[in-house]
Amino acid sequence: MKKEQVAHCQFSVWYPIFKHHTIKSLILPLPQNVIDYLLDDGTLVVSGSDHIAQQTHINSDSDAEEDIQWSDDETTTTVTAPEFPEFTAKVLEAVNALGGRVFPKLNWSAPRDANWIALNSSLQCQSLSEIFLLFKSSDFITHDLTQPFLHCNDQDSPDPVINYELVLRKWSELIPGGEFRCFVKENKLIAISQRDYTQYYPHILKQEESIVHAIHHFFSQHIQYNFLDEDFVLDVYRDSQGRVWLVDLNPFGEVTDSLLFSWAELTSGGEIAQRQDGPAFRYTTSEVTVQPSPCLSYRIPRDFVDLSAGEDAYKLIDFLKLQKGQQEDEEEDEPPQ
Ligand SMILES: Nc1ncnc2c1ncn2[C@@H]1O[C@H](COP(=O)(O)OP(=O)(O)OP(=O)(O)O)[C@@H](O)[C@H]1O
Ligand SMILES: [Mg+2]
Repeated sequence: MKKEQVAHCQFSVWYPIFKHHTIKSLILPLPQNVIDYLLDDGTLVVSGSDHIAQQTHINSDSDAEEDIQWSDDETTTTVTAPEFPEFTAKVLEAVNALGGRVFPKLNWSAPRDANWIALNSSLQCQSLSEIFLLFKSSDFITHDLTQPFLHCNDQDSPDPVINYELVLRKWSELIPGGEFRCFVKENKLIAISQRDYTQYYPHILKQEESIVHAIHHFFSQHIQYNFLDEDFVLDVYRDSQGRVWLVDLNPFGEVTDSLLFSWAELTSGGEIAQRQDGPAFRYTTSEVTVQPSPCLSYRIPRDFVDLSAGEDAYKLIDFLKLQKGQQEDEEEDEPPQ
């Protein structure tokens, strides 16, 4: 995989080519100060002035010109979230144009590893502050920003210039059992894998032939020979009416999860190339092989999740008591007015 191939798989490169076969989306250039804010992992203070300015504490003799202020008491730190009024307005406008609910991405990745932090445990966003919370919590987003060419085999060549962008896609309720990843080598569809391979979907077993046929047809009609490279990985969605849509385009190489195949077999052409009629198709065939979700290792302890989702009433009560206790302590410490 070459750096150029990775650059070609950026959203803003493939979207204009396949616009009519994918989910409606808008692309906003990311200003440098927003990139800096996303990469600054000091404090997780969420910006985006579409919500009330979030401050942890305001010092009475604060200097308005400073973003970060320290009170005399060294235990209380004042952190003000940076504001990006112009960018926030553009994002809100785009979100509204897409129906009010969006799925956010950067040039290549969505913050799939961070959905646990969202109150609804989903990547659905309505405001910039929700997008920032997901992005700042995601290793996948940091990967896009810091090492997009990590697995490339032409490390000696200079990195292509990357203009970072916020991609907003219209929110669509995709059923995981309808998602497939397709491996294209030398412009031939060589393999298809169930995307959500940790689950068993009986309908895939029953409809194997029609799924392969529909995806192959979609590929040969709309994708084949139309992209800038001849090796790439295509994510598609087959909806309840059997129509196939493009979801994403990824580099053909290690950075992309090969799911039920291995990169060794996809690149060497061994086992897979031997099939004569169309692509190899792999899917999970029984409950026995069901595995935990691959993003599980990115999560936090169950207690935190229950708390944020309000799932466990007792934990929530404990948490509120704790907070109340803290507030009372603070009030006692305050000098009389
Ligand atoms: N517009 C959308 N609305 C709702 N959910 C979506 C939308 N687009 C994608 N998804 C869901 O999010 C998942 C990840 O999306 P996507 O493939 O764009 O992310 P990615 O970061 O490129 O993933 P990967 O690293 O596997 O390539 C999809 O499998 C799909 O289930
Ligand atoms: Mg992708």
